[in-house]
Order: sequence, then structure tokens, then C-alpha cells
Amino acid sequence: MCGIVGAVAQRDVSPILLEGLKRLEYRGYDSAGLAILNENKKLQRIRVQGKVNELRREHQASPLKGGTGIAHTRWATHGKPNLINAHPHICRDQVALVHNGIIENHEELRAKQTAAGFQFSSETDTEVAVNAVYEALQTSPDLLKAVFATIKQLEGAYALGVINTEEPERLVAARKGSPLVIGIGIGEYFIASDVFALLPVTQKFIFLEDGDVADIKRDKLVIYDANQEIVERPINVSELNADAADKAGYRHYMMKEIFSQPNAIAESLENRIDDGKVVASEFGQNAESIFKQVKAVKIIACGTSYHAGLIAATWLEEIAQIPCHVEIASEYLYRKSVVAEDTLFVFISQSGETADTLAALQLSKEKKSLSTLAICNVAESSLTREADLVYLTHAGPEIGVASTKAFTTQLVGLFLLVVSIARHNGLSLEEENVFVKELESLPGRVNQILQYKDEIETMAKDFSDKHHALFLGRGVFLPVAMEGALKLKEISYIHAEAYAAGELKHGPLALVDDDMPVVAVAPNNNLLDKLKSNLREVQARGGKLYLFADKSSQVESSEGVYVIKINGVYDFMAPILYTIPLQLLAYYVAVIKGADIDQPRNLAKCVTVE
Ligand code: M6R
Repeated sequence: MCGIVGAVAQRDVSPILLEGLKRLEYRGYDSAGLAILNENKKLQRIRVQGKVNELRREHQASPLKGGTGIAHTRWATHGKPNLINAHPHICRDQVALVHNGIIENHEELRAKQTAAGFQFSSETDTEVAVNAVYEALQTSPDLLKAVFATIKQLEGAYALGVINTEEPERLVAARKGSPLVIGIGIGEYFIASDVFALLPVTQKFIFLEDGDVADIKRDKLVIYDANQEIVERPINVSELNADAADKAGYRHYMMKEIFSQPNAIAESLENRIDDGKVVASEFGQNAESIFKQVKAVKIIACGTSYHAGLIAATWLEEIAQIPCHVEIASEYLYRKSVVAEDTLFVFISQSGETADTLAALQLSKEKKSLSTLAICNVAESSLTREADLVYLTHAGPEIGVASTKAFTTQLVGLFLLVVSIARHNGLSLEEENVFVKELESLPGRVNQILQYKDEIETMAKDFSDKHHALFLGRGVFLPVAMEGALKLKEISYIHAEAYAAGELKHGPLALVDDDMPVVAVAPNNNLLDKLKSNLREVQARGGKLYLFADKSSQVESSEGVYVIKINGVYDFMAPILYTIPLQLLAYYVAVIKGADIDQPRNLAKCVTVE
């Protein structure tokens, strides 16, 4: 989604803004731009339809210099991804503004402003905001007051950065529903959509809260809350260093992130296991007493995080015997649902900024529930601030749009949750010890599976000319198959769907021919024989099978059947283990197809609009 960077400093801020935009690229975008106030108090702007590197080139050709500036990467929502719609937007050469979010009442405001004589140069919802600031400045020439007057008119979500030629050393930022952080330098301040953008210039950050407006000058920062009262917000010192977001020698962030999973899982488990037991207080101080009372669990998430929820539901019902219902956040929001007594709501999100998941958390607070828990990878995110209990996955920054290590570490956290709840519902200490051992074995086992990369790369060649693929799984492996299909479609653009293998003959079998690869995970569990029958149905129709199976599964490669046998002894960790080859398969297919792996077309890392 859109990314914002801004700065007020004594030095030229354009390199800081350009570097910041580069570091926000992972969020997904289609155009970029920056506006700088130069020493003559004039606004200068460069915008491109395309990548930050093109913006850099244009900037090199005709550099902009100045101590105050704002910059933006745009992910189109209202209006095409073209030059005229790129930010910053400027009103009458006086006010420049960048915006992340959606202004829902933009049509109404546009009509009013058109009647008042404003002309629009873009199709965006954002332009009404810059016009509104300009209009307010005509009555009171104070940028802060003008921003207050503007946000009163705006409905929807926004993070804003605004500068004004009449107050050249001032930047006003506002946040409602879309993330925004302030970076604190020495005699300089910055704003950005996330901390990564600013790590080369500072480690100190203030996370604005919803409704906050920040009045930023070189040597002074004042923050106002939603009631326009001055507030103090805590300063956080980030432990991330500027290199946390580099590729460490890998060709793509996604590859780096796939291969960092043994380490990420180990980090995720650190301090969470003690003496063979799960440390429930890692979910929050009063987590233990809440877990004692849980009678039902509702998990809400989107995309890959939703798949993690589906796997956790199987674990929860089997291990803890607690009913669990999993919902897609955007669906949950718009249906009438019933909350069972003593329900624990669990929200899963890598970013903690996904608009639908956040809205679902808000909605859950209106219902009578036992408590809310966020499972999240970003410590100071909106989700972690809003939930009663918080579990941080500690996967480290995930930059590739396709979620990999965030997913496997979410599963680790969810398994810890299941054990913590099950303990109050009949799970014995001996059983818990066994589960803890399984968890502790994970980093090494994931590492072993990564060693199959060459075989998987060879398998991937068969997919490069395909347009469709089916993924099959049964039981807890259905969401694994769903995750495999999502990975393949989002980075290779091959249409891929997952089905419960038993459903095949109820429809999808009609699609099977020699042009439709069928991928299945075949662990040696109680469903293996059933799965094998399903696979024979595919073979009989000339379908080509690509199987990931346990060494003990007794499925062999043959004409039309390509088997990679992994050392994936079946236990509760198997869904995590079997996800790894599917991530690698998607990755290698996308590499062969020459796709933009880390920033797939039309997608964003952080989906901050509904
Ligand atoms: O940050 P979140 O986990 O809330 O994001 C949810 C989805 O947008 C995300 O998982 C998406 O599906 C990924 N691109 C999948 O790889």
C-alpha cells in the first residue's frame, strides 16, 4: 500500500526521502513522487509512473534541494496508476500533501470544492484534502490549524503529511486508520509509514496513535490527540538496524525469508519454553487466567494469516477440544454473527495494519467476548495496541509481499496458544513435554527440508508454461494446500486453486487433463490411503501429479507422477514442514517465469484499506 516519507532538517532532505521510498517499496506501489521546499520557499516536485529508481534517475537529472519535503509511493485505489494521480498533490503552488488511506466522502467534497472554484488535476480522493488545507489557510494562515480544519471534513482513513510554502520549516502530519511514525533525529524530524524507511537516519521513533496530529519543526515536535489536546507519546528505540532490510546475498527477499525460517522459528521460540513447558505469560500478564476460562475460540485474519488460523483450528479442536471457528476478516465484518459464551477472539496479522483485520478487532470489542489476542509480527502496530493480549512472532522484518516466515512463525505461536489452552482442558504434563520437544525440533527439521531446493527447482520447470494448477490436501493439510496455491498465484501469476482432495470428484475433476498440474501433500497420516485414492482419480484422467510425501508414505515416482520424498515424519509440526516445499515451488516457478517476485503486480505488503 502507499508509503509516506517526510522530513524537516537543516540539510538537504531529498536523499533521505528517496532512500526512505526505496525502503518502502516492499509495501507495493505503482507510482512515486516527492516535493521539496527549496531555499526560495518554492515548491518543486518530481513524480513518475513506475519505480523509485526512475524517480531517482529523474532527480539526478534535475536535482531538487531543500530542508523540508514529503515523498510518496502510491498504490492506486481511486484513479489509474498514472502520473497525474501520483502524489504529492499540490494546490495552487502553495500546499503539498501526501496521503495514505481512502477518503470516503471525496465525491461530496469534490463537488463542494468545484463549486467554490477549485480545479482538479487528478482522479484521486486525495486532492480534496490538499484543496481543503489550502482553503483553510486562506482564513487562518497556520498550517496546523488548517490541517485540523481539514481532517474535520474527512471521512475514512488517512495518514497525511503536509507542507506549506509560507511556513517553510514546518511539516504537519496526521493519522487516522493508516500507520504513521515520527523519527527523531538531532535537530531534525522525519515521518514515515514504517520504521524501515527511516532506519538509516534514526533509531528513535514515536508511533502516532489514531486521531493524532503532529506539528513538526526542525527543533520542536508537538503532538495533539483526537481532542486537539497536547499529548506525550512514548519514544521507542528500535532494535532493528538499517541492514535488517537487505537481501543478505540472496537474489530476492522472498528467498532470504524462506531460508531464514529455521532461525526465525528458533527466535520465535526463545523464552517461550521453560523446563519442557510453554510459558503462557508470553501472551500477556493475565493470559493464564484468561486461558483457564476459554470455552470457544474465534480466529479472524486475511490471506496467509487466515490459512494459519485454519491450521490452528484443527489443532485446537484436536488437542484442546475447544470449538474454534475461523473467519476471513472482510466477511466477518459484514455478517450478523453469534459469539459463544467465553469466546477468545484471536486476530492474526503479519503487519498488524491490515484494515479488515483491525476493523474486525474493533467490531469484536462491541460483542461480549472473554478477551482479544493479537498474533502479530510488528511490535508497535495498530493491532498490538488495540488487543488485550499480544503475542509477537519475532520473525524479523518480512519484506517480500508473499508471506513465508511470518506464516510459519504464526503457526509456532498458535501451537503455543493451543498448548496453553489445552493445559486447562485435560492435556497432561507428559503430553505437553512431547509437544514442546516437537516444537524444539522444528528449526532443524525445516532446515533439512530446505535442502530439497534443487529437486524442487527441477520440478518447477514443468510449471513454467502452465496457466492453471490444482492443489490438494486433506484435513489439516487442506489449509497447507490453500497456502501453496496462494503462493503460486500471487508471485507466478499462474491461476491456482486448492481443494479438499475428497471434493475432487464433486466438480474440479472436470478440469483435470495433461495441462493441469495437480500438486498434493501426502504425509503418512490416517488420511493417506484416502488421499491415494483421490490421486488415482487424477491419474486415470491423464492429470500430472506433483507430490510431496513422507519417505514412509509409499508413493513412488512413475509415468505422470513426480514425487519428492521429504523427511517429514508425521506429527503436529507436519503442516509447518510441508509448507516449506510449496513456498520453494512457487518461488522457483516465479523465477523461471521472470516475475517480479518481491513486489508482485497489483499487490501490496500492507493492506491498509478495506
Ligand atoms: O499483514 P497481514 O498478515 O494481516 O496480511 C494479510 C494478507 O494480506 C497477507 O497474508 C497476504 O495474503 C500475503 N500477500 C500472502 O502471501
